Amino acid sequence: MGEFFVWAHRGASALAPENTLAAFRIAEAAGADGLELDVQLSSDGVPVVVHDDTVDRTTDGQGAVSDLTLAELGRLDAGSWFDGTFAAERIPTLEEVLKWGVGRLRFNVEIKDSAAGQAVLDLACRYHRAQIVVSSFDHALLATLRCRAPDLPLAFLWEQAEWAAAVERAAACRAVSFHPRFDCLAAELVTACHCHGMAVYPWTVDDPAALEHCRRLAVDGVFCNDPVQVVAWR
Ligand code: G3P
Ligand code: MG
Repeated sequence: MGEFFVWAHRGASALAPENTLAAFRIAEAAGADGLELDVQLSSDGVPVVVHDDTVDRTTDGQGAVSDLTLAELGRLDAGSWFDGTFAAERIPTLEEVLKWGVGRLRFNVEIKDSAAGQAVLDLACRYHRAQIVVSSFDHALLATLRCRAPDLPLAFLWEQAEWAAAVERAAACRAVSFHPRFDCLAAELVTACHCHGMAVYPWTVDDPAALEHCRRLAVDGVFCNDPVQVVAWR
């Protein structure tokens, strides 16, 4: 299905604080084809790019993202936990990231908080020139988004051993791709997805032996934390 696609997982998250503009800039400079990012919703309804449902691990603040306003989130230092040189990094909004990268990179917007679904859909419509695929572990949410947006590219995330029913559900939802955790990857899974016209992108894969395994199974690309290394390998 074409060239091996490199998704930078949370940006170049091995090299910079995850889900920040610094991580996205480094991923682009490394030659990644697309960026994966995670979306939660602020208390005032703005989609923001942060993985956990609290800010505790990746900022100098505390509390649930959904309890904090955009202004409160915007004051947090989202870089020092990784390295002091990134102290200026903030939690970006999804719109900021799309505005920054539209036309240059693809985006895999992973919805973490299902309450963000409609707001993400609205942004995907407003930024229709951005190449966006919306993914989630919440397959009911993806089915709802499919009803609301017949042409929105969707991807199913998966992290269990038994994948067959999930692949069928993804195909029924007209997903463009299936994203299994690496240890759930199997040759039969790849074949089943390809038969349904879905690409397969496992996560997260940085190790050369694991990358070779992916290539042997004819997956379409990977999510990686260090796009410098993976682009060099490719
Ligand atoms: O989208 C692939 C991967 O990001 C899913 O897991 O926890 O890293 O968001 P997580
Ligand atoms: Mg993710």
